[in-house]
Amino acid sequence: MIPGGVNSPVRAFRAVGGDPPFIVRGQGSRVWDADDNEYLDYIGSWGPLILGHADPAVVEVISRAAHDGVTFGASTPAEADLAEVVLSAFPHMQKVRFVSSGTEATMSAIRLARAYTKRKYIVKFEGCYHGHADALLVKAGSGAATLGIPGSAGVPDEFVQFTIALPFNDAEAVEFAFKKFKHQIACVIVEPVVGNMGCVLPAQGYLERLRKVT
Ligand SMILES: Cc1ncc(COP(=O)(O)O)c(C=O)c1O
Repeated sequence: MIPGGVNSPVRAFRAVGGDPPFIVRGQGSRVWDADDNEYLDYIGSWGPLILGHADPAVVEVISRAAHDGVTFGASTPAEADLAEVVLSAFPHMQKVRFVSSGTEATMSAIRLARAYTKRKYIVKFEGCYHGHADALLVKAGSGAATLGIPGSAGVPDEFVQFTIALPFNDAEAVEFAFKKFKHQIACVIVEPVVGNMGCVLPAQGYLERLRKVT
């Protein structure tokens, strides 16, 4: 019915074996699956659940809002309120666009970078996952600056020809790519701590060197 039993590649168990758990309920820091196994949840829905599961105040507000309808396909005052909160938390941000998934967020950010810089290439790192947009489904290549090879069936080579996949934690590879593709790279996309290949920390000074080269 559902391929691999999952609706996102990051939930797939094919590579590690076993079946994905089906979660039925959560409370605070714990979740329970359909077989009533209890887990301590280190995932927090991949980030947003900073107050844990089913926090009473959050449940109360969601229930109240649901009474007025939950989606209109039109702008709402609540969006503007949320934009204000987000912008005040990130003073360097001037504007915000809300989307529904991480895939859309990374796609939009890359489109914006390409439009602004008028450049075609993007740099990503092996092992970093940024959603299932075609241009980002490039696993790797070997060598210091290898052009994209699609890592998923259904992605034509031409769709990833402007994606440069580099090894993570290798600042020289990035500096080399920026020399080789001088004035052609629109942006670098990176998971600063690579959650998608086992929480790999950046080497000392690596992110600073990335910042410098960009
Ligand atoms: C760093 C990163 N970016 C983007 C995504 C894609 O998010 P979504 O599954 O909401 O499209 C993920 C999902 O795991 C992610 O970990």
